[in-house]
Amino acid sequence: MLEVTALRKTYATGRGGVRAVEDVSFTVDEGRFYTLLGPSGCGKTTTLRCLAGLESRPAPQLSGGQQQRLALARALVRKPKLLLLDEPLSNLDAKLRQRMRIELRELQRRLRITTVYVTHDQAEALFLSHRVAVMQNGRIVQEGRPRDIYASPSSGFVADFVGDATFVPGDVVEGGVRSLGGIVRCALSEAVAPGTRALLVLRPERIFVHAAARGEPNEFAGTLRVAAFLGDHLDCVVDVAGTELRARAHPTAELGRDQRVWVELPPEHCLAIPDDGWRPRTLARTFDDDES
Ligand SMILES: Nc1ncnc2c1ncn2[C@@H]1O[C@H](COP(=O)(O)OP(=O)(O)OP(=O)(O)O)[C@@H](O)[C@H]1O
Ligand SMILES: [Mg+2]
Repeated sequence: MLEVTALRKTYATGRGGVRAVEDVSFTVDEGRFYTLLGPSGCGKTTTLRCLAGLESRPAPQLSGGQQQRLALARALVRKPKLLLLDEPLSNLDAKLRQRMRIELRELQRRLRITTVYVTHDQAEALFLSHRVAVMQNGRIVQEGRPRDIYASPSSGFVADFVGDATFVPGDVVEGGVRSLGGIVRCALSEAVAPGTRALLVLRPERIFVHAAARGEPNEFAGTLRVAAFLGDHLDCVVDVAGTELRARAHPTAELGRDQRVWVELPPEHCLAIPDDGWRPRTLARTFDDDES
């Protein structure tokens, strides 16, 4: 239905050329929902603009969110062969955004309008898409089904951008990575071999905190630093051999700060990817307002 081959775009500016898009290729099958996902400035809008000029969306007396919904409705009512959407839900409040997300998904699946969607919101991309292309610096760095990208990110950048993760460096050994004061049993991505350095990708929602050891594989003792109540679970930070792991505990678990705990890392949910030197942007951490 749509095939883009080696797309490249350079903008001329006063200070020379800006390479906005670099060798981008992808195919969208008929009736599929395809998303370009990536951080600000990575080239999503430029890619979409290269596919077609954007409509200019004249209804100035409406709010930004209303204009967005109107533009979406106008586009859908024509039942186009190809629908190009650039962050169409970005101006809506959180509740409306969630509702529109469901409606858009239902509508696209029902009408089977081939869609290319641009967003920097990973949850939106996972929710809506049949396939996602993750972009970085004008290039597509990984492409696939949402669940495959989430479960098997090809780089630290992708793992960090698509979902939450703690990254732990270590040396690769047979069947695992030497780290956290022991050996973490895990899946090794293709490019990772014993003797090399790797980054363990640990998704917080797949790591569990217990007050006592359970005799499961990949259990590590640590000290609980944070246990914040979030309704359906406790959001935890555990210090394991000097590394702070984010993890979850049952909402009714009686856990307190500085308590000795055990973290369970189910081996099937731990992935080692090549350590190419990439590190996540460090976030300022404040535990001041934590009551536990
Ligand atoms: N008209 C222009 N002239 C010069 N440079 C441009 C122009 N439009 C975009 N760029 C540059 O091209 C790169 C990609 O921009 P683009 O708008 O495609 O990013 P984006 O992924 O859509 O970002 P965002 O999520 O912030 O919308 C950026 O470095 C941007 O500064
Ligand atoms: Mg954009």
